[in-house]
Amino acid sequence: MSGEKRVAVLISGRGSNLEALIEAARAPDYPARIVLVLSNNPDAEGLDKAAAAGIETAVVDHRPFGKDRAAHERLIDARLRQSGVELVALAGYMRILTPFLVEAWAGRMVNIHPSLLPAFTGTDTHRRALDAGVKLHGCSVHMVTLGVDEGPIVGQAAVPVLEGDDAAALADRVLAAEHRLYPACLARLAAGSAGVQPAADAVLANPA
Ligand code: GAR
Repeated sequence: MSGEKRVAVLISGRGSNLEALIEAARAPDYPARIVLVLSNNPDAEGLDKAAAAGIETAVVDHRPFGKDRAAHERLIDARLRQSGVELVALAGYMRILTPFLVEAWAGRMVNIHPSLLPAFTGTDTHRRALDAGVKLHGCSVHMVTLGVDEGPIVGQAAVPVLEGDDAAALADRVLAAEHRLYPACLARLAAGSAGVQPAADAVLANPA
């Protein structure tokens, strides 16, 4: 379909959110098409999942670049442009971006984070949510801006924290919500005009 936005998904590992996006994008009326899956990690399991779905993959290993993060990102940026990418979805991409890539894709790059932002930015979110004693936890899809995990929120999904939860049980419940939220948010962004910040109202994807 000619109206579909060309999307690249950036991953570092397992790629379960990627799988959810691939599955959603199979629907004929889905407004985005995943044209490239790119990883900084040559061993990312998600690369095999993308290849099995017939999607082009690329590895831009960060290790040869050492501390020169921007040089790594220049290569990523070139690869994205080579595939005619219009929107970038970070899905478990575990590198902090430099201003170079953030600015190059401003308004066109989105991330999923495993907490109800602005709570619990950074890592180890499920353990920290348990330690804080919150009764609701969840995930957020947000635009990528210079502040890590700080960009405008596109959508959020909440899950309960249950008696007896450990971090793994809570992570599983949040992940199931991520798999519903991300496709809904990406569709919303893709259906809007590229380069324009989405409206501030949230997409709510409540867990079943
Ligand atoms: C997901 O839970 C995602 O929200 C999180 O990594 C996991 C990736 O899983 N992302 C971050 O923590 C980003 N700061 P996946 O590879 O199976 O999609």
